[in-house]
Amino acid sequence: MTLLITNIGELTTNAPSADASDDRTGTLHEAAVLVEGGRIAWVGSAADAPDASAVDEIVDAAGRAVIPGFVDSHSHLVFGGDRAVEFEERMAGRKYAAGGIRSTVAATRAATDDELRRRLRGFIDEMRAQGTTTVEIKSGYGLSVADEERLVRLAAEVTPEVTFLGAHVVPAEYADRAEEYVDLVVGPMLDACAPHARWVDVFCETGAFTVAQSRRVLEAGVARGLAPRVHASQLGPGEGIALAVELGAASVDHGTYLTEADVTALAASDTVLTLLPGVEFSTRQPYPDARRLIDAGVTVALACDTNPGSSFTSSMPFCIAIAVRDMGMTPAEAVWAATAGGARALRRDDVGVIAPGARADLVLLDAPTRIHLAYRPGVPLVAQVWKDGVAAGIRL
Ligand code: NIG
Ligand code: FE
Repeated sequence: MTLLITNIGELTTNAPSADASDDRTGTLHEAAVLVEGGRIAWVGSAADAPDASAVDEIVDAAGRAVIPGFVDSHSHLVFGGDRAVEFEERMAGRKYAAGGIRSTVAATRAATDDELRRRLRGFIDEMRAQGTTTVEIKSGYGLSVADEERLVRLAAEVTPEVTFLGAHVVPAEYADRAEEYVDLVVGPMLDACAPHARWVDVFCETGAFTVAQSRRVLEAGVARGLAPRVHASQLGPGEGIALAVELGAASVDHGTYLTEADVTALAASDTVLTLLPGVEFSTRQPYPDARRLIDAGVTVALACDTNPGSSFTSSMPFCIAIAVRDMGMTPAEAVWAATAGGARALRRDDVGVIAPGARADLVLLDAPTRIHLAYRPGVPLVAQVWKDGVAAGIRL
């Protein structure tokens, strides 16, 4: 099966040619893409595209923009209930605190596998319709051996990017016994969850886990073959970013409160800083200064952090709009961070890029340029999504 998408007004490849100096977006105009067997087979000028008679299907982009599918590298999609009332109270002035996680734990434990699965698949469809073709999913609302196992198992049904986050918060039944809970996480819970997961994560923050506890969790995960990623510096500055860099984490996420030392350490590392603007939006916290990070040489990704507490958006275009409006990113940088940046945060080179050999994960925008993603906030601009070369519905 071959598919030719041609007459693309602006094509963001994220694969700059060697002579394209410092532009990481590898942007082509009047371009075409050939897809074969779910992979990108060829990218180039529309004038050089293969003859129509040589392909099975042709899509005329009519001068519109095509970008790589979004790589949303941070989400918590397996949970029960919601916390709309908590959000309403927050908008009236209440502060966000890590402890709210516990109310979702109760609702998640009460839900059946099928209820959680239905909800999860609904979120995947919702994301796909907004251009997301790769998603990472964390556990963390089970917090018992059986419930965490359930969450990673269900997440593994829809993505290979599954993260064990048993160390999300200390559950109510372990109140004042945090060390005992960490013993459970690094022992039986990790044993039960590791077979379903690729990553291990920890919420290293006041009200969640200390740096010493976080180190124990991450090192135990690594010893079981999982790769580390960290939630840090969401509610205040801390040592989580330094820990993530020291352990060679693929990504450290949030970074709402950064110290100069954090920025220096990140810039000298392979650890991506994943910014989650939906969280600052929904918790009324200050947006981090992405400009300062990028100028310092930090690799920045953008993700939604879809969860019922701190960020219940699943829209990468919404996050891009905030990043451009309030965090100092250019539209090109924000789109890169939401595609290639997410791929780096997941240590993937087959997504987030439109180049021969990559997965054919593509988004056709109802717009002449990717700038519209920030310029037209809240407008559904995704005209078509292809995942592994297969059209995912939407509209053309
Ligand atoms: O990434 N920071 C920790 N975990 C989630 C929030 C979870 C919740 O409030 O339910 C986050 O923001
Ligand atoms: Fe999170």
